Amino acid sequence: AAVHPQAAGLLGFTPVPVSRADTVAVPEGYRTQVFLPWGTPLLPGAPAFLRNATNSAADQEKQVGSHHDGMHFFPIDLKQGGQSSSEGLLVMNHEYVDPNMLHQFGGNQAPRDVEQVHKEIAAHGVSVAHIRQRPNRQWELVQESHYNRRITGNTLMELTGPVRGHAKVITPFSPDGTRTRGTLNNCAHGVTPWGTYLTCEENWAGLFVSHDREQPREHERYSVARGMSWNQWDTAAAKDPQLARFNASKLGASARDDYRNEPNTFGWIVEIDPFNPNSTPVKHTAMGRFAHEGIIFAKAEAGKPLVAYSGDDARNEYIYKFVSAKPYDPVSAGPHLLDEGSLYVARFNDDGSGDWLPLDFHNPVFQAKALAAGHVFDSQADVLLNTRLAADIMGATPMDRPEWGAVHPTSGEVYFTLTNNSQRPPEMVNAANPRAWNQNGHIIRWRESNGLRFNWDIFVFSGDVFTSTPEHGLMLTNDNHHASPDGLWFDPNGLLWIQTDMSGSQLSRGPFGNNAMLAANVQSHTIKRFLVGPVGCEVTGVVMTPDCKTMFVNIQHPGEGSGPYSFSSTWPDRGITRPRSATVVITKEDGGIIGT
Ligand code: FEO
Ligand code: CA
Ligand code: CA
Ligand code: CA
Repeated sequence: AAVHPQAAGLLGFTPVPVSRADTVAVPEGYRTQVFLPWGTPLLPGAPAFLRNATNSAADQEKQVGSHHDGMHFFPIDLKQGGQSSSEGLLVMNHEYVDPNMLHQFGGNQAPRDVEQVHKEIAAHGVSVAHIRQRPNRQWELVQESHYNRRITGNTLMELTGPVRGHAKVITPFSPDGTRTRGTLNNCAHGVTPWGTYLTCEENWAGLFVSHDREQPREHERYSVARGMSWNQWDTAAAKDPQLARFNASKLGASARDDYRNEPNTFGWIVEIDPFNPNSTPVKHTAMGRFAHEGIIFAKAEAGKPLVAYSGDDARNEYIYKFVSAKPYDPVSAGPHLLDEGSLYVARFNDDGSGDWLPLDFHNPVFQAKALAAGHVFDSQADVLLNTRLAADIMGATPMDRPEWGAVHPTSGEVYFTLTNNSQRPPEMVNAANPRAWNQNGHIIRWRESNGLRFNWDIFVFSGDVFTSTPEHGLMLTNDNHHASPDGLWFDPNGLLWIQTDMSGSQLSRGPFGNNAMLAANVQSHTIKRFLVGPVGCEVTGVVMTPDCKTMFVNIQHPGEGSGPYSFSSTWPDRGITRPRSATVVITKEDGGIIGT
């Protein structure tokens, strides 16, 4: 999109100070509207949200999910070539659930209650909400729209790409290894050039348990739980056999008799067509299996392959690049482009150069390195199922927890947040991750050069004003210091929006106050704090309408760590109530461009 003429004077707002107030603070001249909080009735017949959290699992299936995260606004007329900024489909991830918030008196002990488990599964996934702006500029949900949709941890999905039909994805539910149920722990997202939504499976491994002494590499390298999974959904299987799929132990004679392979159907990038409410979501296995934070496409150019980047958010994991086998053609572009292609992993060299290393079963270098390391793969499908292991073999650079990526709208430069890394000892530092025990995180960026090479540098070292390490002359001040950058998005004017996800003592006692969102002009290396969230929240997920006059920001888990009997936050409802994740709609009082 072209730079808006009014965008001259970007970052003209007065920075928002650090705060620990239980509210959303934005600069003077901006106003906010709370929108689509957890529990909002979305589908026909959905009951109202009950403030004591006594809605049933069946209610939750028809209501907006919990823990809002990555999201995108699709103009309602997109398929007709339009760019509506007053009506569209807002599609958002619901990353996970907090039983202390989701249930009246919190989650019960194992064996878990079947109704509670089903409510938790229903609160995960994705919401598609048809929304429009009224003449008074307030936004509303279009009730009864056939586009409104919930995708949950139980929705039928297809596997496509090389892993479809592989022996390691055979389950009793899908003996031919082509289907699975649900998407879980969807953090950030992506948007395809053909106008569909990609939702990315991040911390799914903790929801499965295996009691086997010997775990296959497909489980072990991803930390499938041993002993006890986070939510212990498997413990309700005695009362509901459907829930046995969360126990990945070998219990029967073969993969058709137990759910040993169920975790292998997670860790993928999932495509949802929001304009086709009856479409079956598709898990694209060619893009690799790991703790996908999100996916960001380079600008699509006709006649050239599609390129996309995805980070694996775990300590000392990697950044990946997918290149489609077929060239992009704006007329015929579609999901098939994501089913066939090459997957690469990044090595950041200390001299500021970088290399994309192929994770390719047919590549002789890969084969030789795998053999030397004593690892055997039976096919590209096997490589993809074990993407992390393949990346280890190729010598990728372990990063400080890669979260979101963003591509500059004109220069094509790629920016990635590296949120923090408590597990990087001094002997493991490298130029791209130069801080031992990296508390505050940093933002790295690169430009593609020739072939499989790139050039990188650090955009900013996050941190407080006292320990600020000036990079490109940028000294952090009270107006822009921050820590644990996570959400990242370039708006069409080229402003970089940075969202923070601090937790623990960094959040409760640090100099940074509550989690926040900042805006950066990457040309002038200027950063200003634009928004501060309520108590205990993470600020994550940001998008604007095409005219840049409405911004949507997600506030995830206000009051985290409290409940179920008393809460540290009552945002956004106030009074004697529990906090709720919600979207915040931001407009300028003068109707102008956000961020000017
Ligand atoms: Fe779900 Fe990496 O944040
Ligand atoms: Ca995140
Ligand atoms: Ca995070
Ligand atoms: Ca979070």
